Amino acid sequence: MSERFSFKKKPLGLLDMLAFTKLLPNRQARISAAPATPPKTLYINKLAKSLHPLRQNLRVTALFEEAPGVIRYRLEPIEGELAYFRPGQYLSFFLEIEGSRITRPFSISSSPADAKEGFYEVCIKNSGFATAWIADNWKVGTEVVSSGPEGHFYYEPARDAKDIICVAGGVGITPLRSLARSVAQGIVEVNMTLIYGCNTASEMLFAEEFHGFEKDGSFKVVYVVANEEVAGAEKGFITRELIEKYAPAGEATLFVCGPQAMYRYLEGEFATLNLSPKRLRKELFGEIKEVTKSEGYPLGKETETHTLTVYMGFESCTMPALGSESLLVAMERAGLNPPSRCRSGECGYCRSFMSAGSVFIPPEEEMRKQADRDTNHIHPCCSFPLEDIELNVPRAK
Ligand SMILES: Cc1cc2nc3c(=O)[nH]c(=O)nc-3n(C[C@H](O)[C@H](O)[C@H](O)COP(=O)(O)OP(=O)(O)OC[C@H]3O[C@@H](n4cnc5c(N)ncnc54)[C@H](O)[C@@H]3O)c2cc1C
Ligand code: FES
Repeated sequence: MSERFSFKKKPLGLLDMLAFTKLLPNRQARISAAPATPPKTLYINKLAKSLHPLRQNLRVTALFEEAPGVIRYRLEPIEGELAYFRPGQYLSFFLEIEGSRITRPFSISSSPADAKEGFYEVCIKNSGFATAWIADNWKVGTEVVSSGPEGHFYYEPARDAKDIICVAGGVGITPLRSLARSVAQGIVEVNMTLIYGCNTASEMLFAEEFHGFEKDGSFKVVYVVANEEVAGAEKGFITRELIEKYAPAGEATLFVCGPQAMYRYLEGEFATLNLSPKRLRKELFGEIKEVTKSEGYPLGKETETHTLTVYMGFESCTMPALGSESLLVAMERAGLNPPSRCRSGECGYCRSFMSAGSVFIPPEEEMRKQADRDTNHIHPCCSFPLEDIELNVPRAK
């Protein structure tokens, strides 16, 4: 053995030998002294429940219009405390709209210190089916139900560099507002440069708040406005050159959150950035809106309608499934309540066994383990039917 790998053995002493001979009798004595029935409430269960609740009952206590069509909602617990979260995580909200029971994930845009004060905030852009309904129905006093905090888009000191560059597009700013607030409040100790792209001056969310954070030197914000000249902001799109101008990326970790189109554009820009893949953290972007744009989609299938047969426990039912929509949406349209959280292929909550048929899975949302691929387990949130399907779905908890 080389000198480098040699190690010295400490000889066993009398005390070590005594401790060893008493190992078994000591364990036996502890087993005999323990109660015959297990305790009803374990502390560890209580702690786990408060850290990772399946559901949280919340009430809207304030609304703030941040920009045309973008509302920040303040939510407080109906009883008890809010679950702890890491800046960047999201909540999945359970909604019942026109007979459909659906979920939608929204990032927590407030900070963990705010949660200790008793509130979360989410900032929602009215951009489609569920968000239009929320804009019409969530008022002060409305009770809403969410999951516990979920997701992996957060700063991890053991993995990420102390200098972080955050790139946001549009309402993708929300998880990064949580991080910016946490940096300003001293909860997360990093040097943060935020490069935030939007279309017009009216869409520059949180400008006053972010400029206020710049005072202590560990936070900097750069607004990049595509369609207007704005004093103090860059004009155009977020490019590699722009990132390098404000924050040389060599040793930094890059956090990116925005719409699908922004990811596609930035992928090309990042290709030449001096950045190792482990230094890139990307937030999920939710359901694929136009599956025909995904690489490898068999064009023409989007206009077909197939039959989806769902087995849930001892029940089964059939429903139509459009080629252009995920199997999760087909089930929700039929009024079922299948499990889901991220709606982006990552969390695995919707994992189901497909016993017949075939689906298209967009490569950007294919995150299944190899064992699941081999055994026909799919994530309905990112599986689009190519023929009639039979699916065994777990019940939502
Ligand atoms: C991790 C994460 C964090 C996010 N954070 C935020 C955030 O902070 N703020 C924010 O604004 N957005 C956020 N989003 C995006 C958000 O979850 C929604 O995808 C987005 O707001 C659009 O939702 P929408 O229902 O309004 O529009 P869409 O999802 O575009 O709604 C249209 C879709 O609804 C489905 N649909 C239509 N009719 C029915 C029906 N009757 N029954 C069932 N389904 C139907 C169809 O599939 C249709 O394509 C986040 C997404 C993720 C993944
Ligand atoms: S809901 Fe997260 S993987 Fe399907």
